[in-house]
Amino acid sequence: LRFLVCCLLFLESSVYATIVSHDGRAITIDGNRRVLLSGSIHYPRSTPEMWPDLIGKGKEGGLDAIETYVFWNVHEPTRRQYDFSGNLDLIRFLKTIQDQKLYGVLRIGPYVCAEWNYGGFPVWLHNMPAMEFRTTNKAFMNEMQNFTTMIVNMVKKEKLFASQGGPIILAQIENEYGNVIGSYGEAGKSYIQWCANMAQSLDVGVPWIMCQQDDAPQPMLNTCNGYYCDNFQPNNANTPKMWTENWTGWYQNWGGKNPHRTTEDVAFAVARFFQRGGTFQNYYMYHGGTNFDRTAGGPYITTSYDYDAPLDEYGNLNQPKYGHLKQLHDVLHSMEKTLTYGNVSTIDFGNFVSATIYKTEEGSSCFFGNVNETSDATINFQGETYIVPTWSVSILPDCKTEVYNTAKINTQTSVMIKKPNEAEDEPINLKWLWKPENIDNFLLKGKGESTMKQLFDQKIVSNDQSDYLWYMTTLNLKEEDPVLGENMSLRINSTAHVLHAFVNGQHVGNYHAENGKFHYVFEQEAKFNPGDNVISLLSITVGLPNYGAFFENVPAGITGPVFIIGKNDDETIVKDLSTHKWSYKTGLSGFENQLFSSESPSKWSGDSVPFNRTMTWYKTTFKAPLGSESVVVDLLGLGKGTAWINGNNIGRYWPAFLSTEDGCSTECNYRGAYYAEKCQTNCGEPTQRWYHVPRSFLNPKGDNILVLFEEIGGNPSFVNFQTVGVGGVCANVYEKNVLELSCNGRPISAIKFASFGNPRGKCGSFEKGTCEASKDVVNILSAECVGKEKCSVNVSTEKFGVPECDGATRSLAVEALC
Ligand code: GAL
Repeated sequence: LRFLVCCLLFLESSVYATIVSHDGRAITIDGNRRVLLSGSIHYPRSTPEMWPDLIGKGKEGGLDAIETYVFWNVHEPTRRQYDFSGNLDLIRFLKTIQDQKLYGVLRIGPYVCAEWNYGGFPVWLHNMPAMEFRTTNKAFMNEMQNFTTMIVNMVKKEKLFASQGGPIILAQIENEYGNVIGSYGEAGKSYIQWCANMAQSLDVGVPWIMCQQDDAPQPMLNTCNGYYCDNFQPNNANTPKMWTENWTGWYQNWGGKNPHRTTEDVAFAVARFFQRGGTFQNYYMYHGGTNFDRTAGGPYITTSYDYDAPLDEYGNLNQPKYGHLKQLHDVLHSMEKTLTYGNVSTIDFGNFVSATIYKTEEGSSCFFGNVNETSDATINFQGETYIVPTWSVSILPDCKTEVYNTAKINTQTSVMIKKPNEAEDEPINLKWLWKPENIDNFLLKGKGESTMKQLFDQKIVSNDQSDYLWYMTTLNLKEEDPVLGENMSLRINSTAHVLHAFVNGQHVGNYHAENGKFHYVFEQEAKFNPGDNVISLLSITVGLPNYGAFFENVPAGITGPVFIIGKNDDETIVKDLSTHKWSYKTGLSGFENQLFSSESPSKWSGDSVPFNRTMTWYKTTFKAPLGSESVVVDLLGLGKGTAWINGNNIGRYWPAFLSTEDGCSTECNYRGAYYAEKCQTNCGEPTQRWYHVPRSFLNPKGDNILVLFEEIGGNPSFVNFQTVGVGGVCANVYEKNVLELSCNGRPISAIKFASFGNPRGKCGSFEKGTCEASKDVVNILSAECVGKEKCSVNVSTEKFGVPECDGATRSLAVEALC
């Protein structure tokens, strides 16, 4: 019997064990070459309550796999003290992927970049003796190996690698080191070899990847990152062509605009990649999410990490991007065998137009690509004529019928709208309490926790335990000191992202760096007296750098020198205070006293709530918006600070920081190569006005608490909560396709516009064209759709009648209200 049980167990495990291998054509899982579509969802950028929905939408959207980085700094905030709780529960996230029967791609790094604070490195690591990052430094390699091994062991323990029957098919070590390797000389080459050996020694049983590493040592697989990767060739004939980061949009900086990448162009890039032999493609990001708390990198990455991804920051479908890509995934999957086993041939039609044919004994599949930026192509292929629009790829799974073209979107566009909180009347109902941040000790006494006769980098003093660091010194001036006079100033050479300066308790000014110009000189008039003068400087970081060779050494804080300057007659007297005795204090007392916590016993005042007061805490209670739509808080009117909902830190806010005026366009041409500045919106507006409040942070019944720490001064009386949902939907669907409309769980209330023929314009401003079908299209659609949560209708002449459009491509344009 024992023998039998043992054999049965053995049989069972061998049935479920998944073997992942690869050859020049593809990643092979259980003996089958695969076309793998994957999407990045970073677990700490949402909440565990959101994970099943996000991952489920990924599956529904046609993904095979979910990718995530692992974020070292939040897991090991203090050396050898670990945190995997709440939204840091990596294992729970991976198991959610497994529950949905998707594959996982685990990019451990542990350097991750990712617009994440310090690229995912803990700051204590930087402060270890003789430390140098990402090179053959003993201390660094030791810590990197320690963390990587720990993660691998955690994952192994739960049997989550495919080699153990789990979902994870690929693991990554390092991240885009090839982009910076040149700066590290010979050591860089040894380091990458060490990374490869170290990773390999962990014996995960699935292939390791190294992205943007064209000298990746075998058996590491080198992969491509970028907006387009069709030209990419891996460095080994046995490495399949893989794309780890297809950027679906771009990130935002404080002061920057809101980037968009068109659906047509993302689809074009994907189709082009598969046309040219790609087999694994990952969207970075599929869901961008939110940089809660102090996780945003930088400097100056915003709290929203929406990324214009197929799922928006809150997890809603970003349509048409989500749907148009889903259709593409379905078509590619239908051709999986042909693409990964077929013989490949190409026909070059000239003028950047080509056909690629994948042929097996069972059949052929074709791609027609037109990479021309200005002209449509008409081609003859096997006796038929085809039109391939500018900057697009057509896919013909049987080489006869075009079933997909990247530039022809048949998916609805959803217009997202924000609605007021129906649970109460806001902002009127929000009663504010306030409390000053207690800074008197620092302003008047200049006393901190430690003193040094030197100006230190903020990272070194505060280990990044807080955004805030006080630099304070007391300067004794004799009556006869020649620097004294009417005309005096304080001059600070600073790399503080934001700076507040006080002299003898008086606020002499504040400054925030322009994005990219973090090294500046701040000079303000100030009054100094004979006797003791207390100079208190508050330096504030807004995300530590995350990218570039040696980014860890980019200075933060007040690195000096600091001068006081007196101008008398035509003489200028300069005193350098840099080697004075400086007193340091990390953090602010309101944070230490946890004023943001719902349990905080502190007394707040409801009397004469001040506006535009620096360093002020505000608090109010509110009712959670009804229903299940995503919730945001509108912080227009406030300056800069941090917000908490029921004690949960929802991130830094800074609505006072406006985006610059130039560089936006209402029209966005998808034709031609994309770059981050190409299609921006939000010029001259607050960089970020709305902040995500995950539903799980709210008490659906009863009171909820919002706490704000306002640093530069603002007015909370406009603050209000809103829900985000689909307000209306539009579509312009080509004949012989299916129109699908959905209001995301709410009924369609009316058909505002509909025309079958050659309608013009875009969503919100459709117009009838020169021809139109005979039947009453609005009536037909109203009957099919109004009152329903979704409807689907064949776009055909049988349904709507025949429009008299000679030669025009016929389509049905619809605008519906939700
Ligand atoms: C890549 C990097 C990612 C992310 C991306 C931009 O260079 O690997 O982590 O930072 O750029 O969003």
